[in-house]
Amino acid sequence: MESRSAAVSKKELLDQKNAEAELGGGENRIQAQHAKGKLTARERISILVDKGSFEEIGRFVMHRSKDFGLDKEHYLGDGVVTGYGKVNGRLVYVFAQDFTVFGGSLSETHAEKICKLMDLAMKNGAPLIGLNDSGGARIQEGVLSLAGYADIFYKNTLASGVIPQISAVMGPCAGGAVYSPAITDFVLMVENTSYMFVTGPNVVKTVTHEEVTSEELGGAMTHATKSGVTHFVSANEVECLLSIKKLLSYMPQNCEDDAPRYPYTPGDELRPALNTLIPENANQPYDMREVITELSDPDSFFEVHEHFAENIVVGFSRIAGRSIGIVANQPAVLAGVLDIHASQKAARFVRFCDCFNIPLLVLEDVPGFLPGTDQEWNAIITNGAKLLYAFCEATVPRITVITRKAYGGAYDVMNSKHIGADMNFAWPSAEIAVMGASGAAEIIFKREIAQAENPAEKLQEKIDDYTQKFTNPYRAAHRGYIDEVIYPDQTRAKLIRAFEMLENKVDVLPKKKHGNIPL
Ligand code: HXC
Repeated sequence: MESRSAAVSKKELLDQKNAEAELGGGENRIQAQHAKGKLTARERISILVDKGSFEEIGRFVMHRSKDFGLDKEHYLGDGVVTGYGKVNGRLVYVFAQDFTVFGGSLSETHAEKICKLMDLAMKNGAPLIGLNDSGGARIQEGVLSLAGYADIFYKNTLASGVIPQISAVMGPCAGGAVYSPAITDFVLMVENTSYMFVTGPNVVKTVTHEEVTSEELGGAMTHATKSGVTHFVSANEVECLLSIKKLLSYMPQNCEDDAPRYPYTPGDELRPALNTLIPENANQPYDMREVITELSDPDSFFEVHEHFAENIVVGFSRIAGRSIGIVANQPAVLAGVLDIHASQKAARFVRFCDCFNIPLLVLEDVPGFLPGTDQEWNAIITNGAKLLYAFCEATVPRITVITRKAYGGAYDVMNSKHIGADMNFAWPSAEIAVMGASGAAEIIFKREIAQAENPAEKLQEKIDDYTQKFTNPYRAAHRGYIDEVIYPDQTRAKLIRAFEMLENKVDVLPKKKHGNIPL
C-alpha cells in the first residue's frame, strides 16, 4: 500500500511541476501580456506548429543565479520554451521567449536551452524558428548573460547557410540582442507591439538630443521601410505566425535538401495579357508584379521585403509546382533603377536562394544605377557590387527574362549570361545597350550635332539611328548573349521547360575558404 501511495505522489509531483511550467510567470503576468495585445510563448507555439506535434525540451530548467534576490525567485523553464514540432508536416525546432518570466530576459540557462536546440537543429538538418520577446540580458546575471548571447550569435553564424533560420520579433528586442535575429535569414515583426534597436529612445535623447518614440525608432514599419532590418510586417501576432508557416513552405529543410514540390496539373500556359503589358512609350511605367502574377502558379507569389526599396521586387513563387526565387526590377517605382537599398535587398535574397537550392528567376527592366552624390557617397559602388557578386557566385539554376530596358552596368549585374545565368530570354520590346538612345546620341555625336545646320534635326536623326541599331534584343541575340527572343505570352511555358531542363544542374565554385563579398 505504501509504495502505491508513494507512486501516486510522484505522479502528483510531476503533474504539479507540469502545471507550474505551463503557467510561466503566473496568471497575473499572463493577463498583463494579453492586455498588451500579445500572446504567451506557449500560445504562439501552438498557433505555429501542427496541432499536437510539439514536444518540449528542458521544461524544468531553472537558473542557477543567487545575486540580487534571484536565489528566491525561480520559474520552471527560465523564460524560454524550447522544443520541436511539425509545420505543414515537416520538422522544425522552435524557441519562444516567455515575457512573463523575468521579462523574457536571457540568462545563462535560458541561453543554454536555445543553444541545445540549435545543436539539434543543425545535427538533424531542420529549420530553426525563434519567437523573440525579451527585455534583453538578464540584468542580475551580468556577464553570464552576455556570454549566453555570444554563444547564440556564434551558433547562428555556424548554422547560416546550413539550415533556414527565421526570427519573429514579437515584443522588445534591444541592445546586442538584436544581433541574433540580424544574423538569421528572415526577420518578421508585428505592428505596434514589437521593436528592435541597439540603443533605446532614452540613450538616443542623451547622446543625439533626438526625441523619438520606440515605435518611430525601431517599430515594425520603421524597419520595414527605412532600415530593411525586417522582411515582413504583420498587423497582429497570428498573422505573423501564419507568415512563418507560409515562408517555410518554399524552403528545403537544409542546404542538402530541395524545397517541397507542390501539385501542378499542366494546362494552357499561354498568357495573352503579357503581350500588351509593356506600354508603347518606353518611359511609361507598368507594374512588374503583374508579370510575376502571370508567370507564377495561382496565388503562389509571396513577396519578401515588400515595403523596402520598392524599385526592386523580390519574393518566392512557384512555377509548375517548383519553388523559385524571383528578383524583378520594378518600373513602377523610380523607373526600376538600381540603388543602394535595392542592391542590398536583392543581394541578400539571391544569397538565401543560392544557400538553399532555390532556382532564381530574374525579370529585368532597368535603366541603370541611380546617379547622385547621395548614392556615390554612401557607396553605391560597394553595394551594387554585392548584387553583382551574389549573382556571380550563385550556382542554382538561373534564368533571366528581359522585358524592356537592360542598360549599362545594370545589364551585366542583373543575371546576365556573362556572369553565369543559364538561360537568358528577351521579349521583342527589350532594349539592350550601354545607355538610352538620346543620351548616347548626345555624347557620341556631340560635335556633329553642334556643327549641323539644324542641330535638333541632326540629334533626332542620330537618336533614330542608335535606336534602330541598339534599342532591341537582336544584337545580343546574334552574339548568343540572349538564348531566345520570345513572345511574351509564351514566357510561362518557356520557363516551365527551362526550369525542368535545369533541374539537375551541377556547378562547382573554385575551392576556397570563403569568398570576400564587398560588405
Ligand atoms: C531582468 C527584467 C529585464 C532584464 C525586464 N525584466 N527586463 N529582468 N533583466 N533585462 C523584468 C522586470 O523587472 C519585470 O519583472 C518584468 O520583466 C516585466 O518588465 P516590465 O518593465 O514590467 O515590462 P514593460 O513595462 O513591458 O517593459 C519592458 C521593457 C523593460 C521595456 C523590456 O522591462 C526594460 O526596459 N527592461 C530592461 C531592458 C534592458 O535595459 N535590458 C538590457 C539591455 S542590454 P516583474 O517581476 O516586475 O514582473 C542587453 C545587452 C545584450 O540586452 C548584449 C548582447 C551582446
